[in-house]
Amino acid sequence: MNAHNTMKEGAEAPFYLPQGDECAIFEAAAAADLPVLLKGPTGCGKTRFVAHMAARLGRPLYTVACHDDLSAADLIGRYLLKGGETVWVDGPLTRAVREGAICYLDEVVEARKDVTVVLHPLTDDRRILPIDRTGEELEATPGFMLVASYNPGYQNILKTLKPSTRQRFVAMEFDFPRPEHEVPVVVRESGLSEDLVRNLVRLANKLRGLKGQDLEEGVSTRLVVYAATLIKNGMKLERAIETAMIEPLSDDADVKRGLRDLVTAIFG
Ligand SMILES: Nc1ncnc2c1ncn2[C@@H]1O[C@H](COP(=O)(O)OP(=O)(O)OP(=O)(O)O)[C@@H](O)[C@H]1O
Ligand SMILES: [Mg+2]
Repeated sequence: MNAHNTMKEGAEAPFYLPQGDECAIFEAAAAADLPVLLKGPTGCGKTRFVAHMAARLGRPLYTVACHDDLSAADLIGRYLLKGGETVWVDGPLTRAVREGAICYLDEVVEARKDVTVVLHPLTDDRRILPIDRTGEELEATPGFMLVASYNPGYQNILKTLKPSTRQRFVAMEFDFPRPEHEVPVVVRESGLSEDLVRNLVRLANKLRGLKGQDLEEGVSTRLVVYAATLIKNGMKLERAIETAMIEPLSDDADVKRGLRDLVTAIFG
């Protein structure tokens, strides 16, 4: 199970540069016991934002990467055989409900249908988690907060949240940071000089302009950080861009040639 409590006692909040009022909105939602839905393309900072906010609020964070096999039992818990005895083991959602923690369901649209059913009584004013297997009905401990994220870009028609699910969340849209934010983010994350980073970010924005025509998704801030880190660690600029900002975007030789033309236009 890909879930763990990611908050270290006394650790500083992970670096997150706000793009707008998202921190204030998240804090207001947390104070009002409202669940939050984050929408946005891959690698734009959603996970980092949640980690940052959890640390700022001083709440433990349980992150679950959802996939099409993820079931309600994976979140709630199950009986396991331990040394000849059957014992109940809480899943990450149940732990968060008991502890008053933040439970973050990443790519929630990927999860199986039975998962959304579980979320409903937790995300309205009841704030309860019925555990059928044990007969318990848990009332969420103060501090419990459900956060979910998904990428509206590559979701297909079958994989979308039902209105009855999505209308239980306060929702925020994320996008790639504007250059005046992305440059300092990449400098901070990679340690590369600002001059070079500025050009990488210019390239990233040119590549993002191809979304919808040649590319399914624009190049992520994550990939710009990768490229900058490889360059900082001594890789030649051209190779770093090729491996971190061209190859991950497409398998099509013609498309890649087009992307390289943009590189030449910026870096010569
Ligand atoms: N505003 C920001 N402040 C600090 N770092 C950022 C910011 N935006 C993006 N990043 C950087 O981008 C990287 C990718 O962000 P993150 O993992 O949060 O993306 P994501 O939106 O969760 O993507 P996915 O949908 O693929 O899970 C982070 O590791 C961080 O280096
Ligand atoms: Mg993420």
